[in-house]
Amino acid sequence: MTKGWTKSDWRAKPRIQMPDYPDAAALGAVEAQLAKYPPLVFAGEARKLKKQLAQAAEGKAFLLQGGDCAESFAEFSADNIRDTFRVMLQMAVVLTYGAKVPVIKVGRMAGQFAKPRSAPTEVINGLELPSYKGDIINGFDPTPEARIPDPNRMLQAYTQAAASLNLLRAFSTGGFADIHRVHSWTLGFAEHDKAERYRELSNRISDALDFMTAAGVNSDTAHTLTSVDFYTSHEALLLEYEEALCRIDSISGQPVAGSGHMLWIGDRTRQPDGAHVEFCRGVLNPIGLKCGPTTTAEDLKVLMAKLNPANEPGRLTLIARFGAGKVGEHLPRLIRTVQEEGANVLWSCDPMHGNTIKAQSGYKTRPFDSVLREVREFFAIHKAEGTVPGGVHFEMTGKDVTECTGGLRAVTDEDLSSRYHTACDPRLNASQSLELAFLVAEELSALRSEGQRLAL
Ligand code: PEP
Ligand code: CO
Repeated sequence: MTKGWTKSDWRAKPRIQMPDYPDAAALGAVEAQLAKYPPLVFAGEARKLKKQLAQAAEGKAFLLQGGDCAESFAEFSADNIRDTFRVMLQMAVVLTYGAKVPVIKVGRMAGQFAKPRSAPTEVINGLELPSYKGDIINGFDPTPEARIPDPNRMLQAYTQAAASLNLLRAFSTGGFADIHRVHSWTLGFAEHDKAERYRELSNRISDALDFMTAAGVNSDTAHTLTSVDFYTSHEALLLEYEEALCRIDSISGQPVAGSGHMLWIGDRTRQPDGAHVEFCRGVLNPIGLKCGPTTTAEDLKVLMAKLNPANEPGRLTLIARFGAGKVGEHLPRLIRTVQEEGANVLWSCDPMHGNTIKAQSGYKTRPFDSVLREVREFFAIHKAEGTVPGGVHFEMTGKDVTECTGGLRAVTDEDLSSRYHTACDPRLNASQSLELAFLVAEELSALRSEGQRLAL
């Protein structure tokens, strides 16, 4: 796959969305330092995730990918990590119950720091400033000094990612994720309709667990009940950081990105001959590729050939993000392109990035109804095409923020200012995330019944 590839080759390709560091010597020193640090993840884990994603592509598992739009240095805390992890566990329980297949949990966490922006500058309080590009690149404060790209931020991002991953690994295996605690994951959530539905589902799971214990299956014999696999992912935007953390897998001899288990290429940086595709094609990790309304069949063909020349199952996830009302126009043509090429891909749905609007109050928001609608359209089209809707990709947080409007405990335009904490795009709050999980579970369980009916 990577014959003749080196981790620096991207430097000879056209690059966009990346910062121009004013101090080349400081940049070089940081890169040298990072190159000496241990990788955050190991090749064996990336390979295991790839195998699981291959299962999802066949409908035998389901991918749940979610987390912050942009992780920030200021919001870094154990509570925040725990809350996002907990909502993901809850969503996974709901999805597993509906789909009756394993749910693969992948956080937009422990590395999701760099942001592509639609414009190089933004106007804040009448002042035109270079755009904020994520904490790994420059500062959020609206001052010219804060907005200068600073390579030392990469070291802080690395440290934060390492500490986040350490906590996530502890939560995954140290008892927190034990399915017997399914009830306790509701703690801290406000009362609402979906919490009640979740509680009912937890009761049913507890009953099943009691039965299994009585039948002799318990935590000592069934390790899978007491721990979970939890993976990390981020957009591979800042290639100096990615290159510095690239390592050689001692088993296969192949390069692996050590910065996270799964990397994805954004909708703005997927040029077939660009720097981002060049870097990602060489590492063995599972790769995500955002597909938007401007993704052409021609580009997709070249991208699939470059990113997955061996047509390895689980290697490539196509993350559809068209916007509600536009899925019917774009998804079928791209599904057909995949079929024409005989390509193995996993289809996932990102119902966030095509549905961003500006509220009257000036806040960037996403109407929850549009998010739900895009998910429904994604499922309906896969059903019509006879293909597998294998995953979902959300921007969400475990906190009770007011960033997306709507939902059962309706957030209104006027509410947006009360708890709008995101450093970048608006995220679903805990209650909206759970509501969405129930919708996806319903879609999956309808698919399952349909599949059973057809098999009869
Ligand atoms: C993102 O996932 O945060 C993002 C910027 O997405 P896209 O590239 O699809 O716009
Ligand atoms: Co985003």
